[in-house]
Amino acid sequence: AAAEKGGWATYMDKEIHEQPHAVADTLLGRTDESGRLVLDEIRTTEERLRQVDRITFVACGTAAYAGMVAKYAIEHWTRIPVEVSLAHEFRYCDPIVDGNTLVVSISQSGETMDTLMAVKHARELGAMTLSICNTHGSTIPRESDAVLYTHAGPEIAVASTKAFLAQITACYVLGLYLAQLRGETYADDAKAVMHELQGIPEKIEELLGRMDRVVEMADFMADSRAVLFLGRNVGYPVALEGALKLKELAYIHAEGFAAGELKHGPIALIEPGQPVFVVVPGPDTPHDLHKKVVSNIQEIRARGARTLVIAHDGDEDVEPFASEVIRIPQCSPMLAPLLAVVPLQVFALHLASAKGLDVDQPRNLAKSVTVE
Ligand code: G6P
Repeated sequence: AAAEKGGWATYMDKEIHEQPHAVADTLLGRTDESGRLVLDEIRTTEERLRQVDRITFVACGTAAYAGMVAKYAIEHWTRIPVEVSLAHEFRYCDPIVDGNTLVVSISQSGETMDTLMAVKHARELGAMTLSICNTHGSTIPRESDAVLYTHAGPEIAVASTKAFLAQITACYVLGLYLAQLRGETYADDAKAVMHELQGIPEKIEELLGRMDRVVEMADFMADSRAVLFLGRNVGYPVALEGALKLKELAYIHAEGFAAGELKHGPIALIEPGQPVFVVVPGPDTPHDLHKKVVSNIQEIRARGARTLVIAHDGDEDVEPFASEVIRIPQCSPMLAPLLAVVPLQVFALHLASAKGLDVDQPRNLAKSVTVE
C-alpha cells in the first residue's frame, strides 16, 4: 500500500501533489497550433452547441462547487445564463429546461446516483446533456449526449482534491469553447485565457512547495472548534470548498460565506480568537472587490478574529489586518480558484492528521454515493 501511495503518507497527500498533472492533462490536446480550441472527443457538433442559450450545472458536493466557480467564468466569457443546481434538488424542483438548454453534469466517479437521475430527468425534458467526468466507461457519461473527460487519474481518497481542479479546468475549456463558437471577439479572449491556463500547473507546483507554514498552522489549530471561510466572486465557492474539506476530514464545524454577506449575519459569530480564512481576490479584480474584501478583513480583525488571509504575491494591502498571510502566485481573477483552494486542502489534511484521523476514509462518508 505504501508503494501505491508513491511515498506519500496518505492517498490524499499524493493526490494533492498530483494536481499540477491533473490540470495539465485535462488541458492536453484541446488546442490546435494556432491556439484555437478543438474538442474532438466531445461527441456532439458545433451546430448543436451553437444553439445553447442556457446552461444548468448539476452535481453534488465538491463537484457542485466546481460548477459554482464555472458559472462566474462562463457567464463572463459567453454571456450565456448559467445556473448551478444540486443534482438532488434539480430533479424535484420542476426545472425549466428545453431543447436549447445544456445540462452539464459534473462527477468524478460518474456513478453518483443523484447526479445520474438528474441527467436522466434532463434528457426526458428534452435538454441536451453533457457529462464532465473523470471515469471512462462510467454510467453518467454513457447516459449523456456529450462528454468532456477530466484527466485527473484515479482518485482514491474520499475527499476530492485533484478531481476538483480538473473539473474547474474542464468547465473552463467548455466555456472558452462556447465563447469561441460565439465569434471572433470572444475567440481572442478564449485564446488568451487558454494560454494563461497552460501556465497554471507550474504555479500550483510552486505553491505546493511553500506549504510549510500552512502545515504548522494546521498542527497548532488542531483543537479549533469552529472555523469560518470568506470569499467573493469565484472565491466564494472556494470558501465553501475550504469549509467542506474541514468538515469532511477533521469533523470541525466549518462554514463558508460570501464576504459581502458578513454584515448581514455571519459577523455576529466573530469573537476574540475565532479563526477566519479569507480568500482575497487579486488586486486587479473588477469592481474594487479586492478593496472590499480587504475592508472585510479589517472589520473582523477589529472584533478579534484570527484572520488567515490567502492573498496573491505582492498584495501588501492585506498585511496590516492579517494574523497570517498565505501567499499564492499571481494570476488573473478567474483562474485564482485553481490556486487559492490548494492551501485550504493542505490545511484540512494536516489538521485531520494532527487529530490522528483517517484522512483517506473519513467516518460516515463514501467515495461514491450510489444510492439516492
Ligand atoms: C461524495 C464524496 C464527495 C464528492 C461527491 C460527488 O459525497 O464524498 O467528495 O464530491 O460524492 O461525487 P462525484 O463522484 O459525483 O464527483
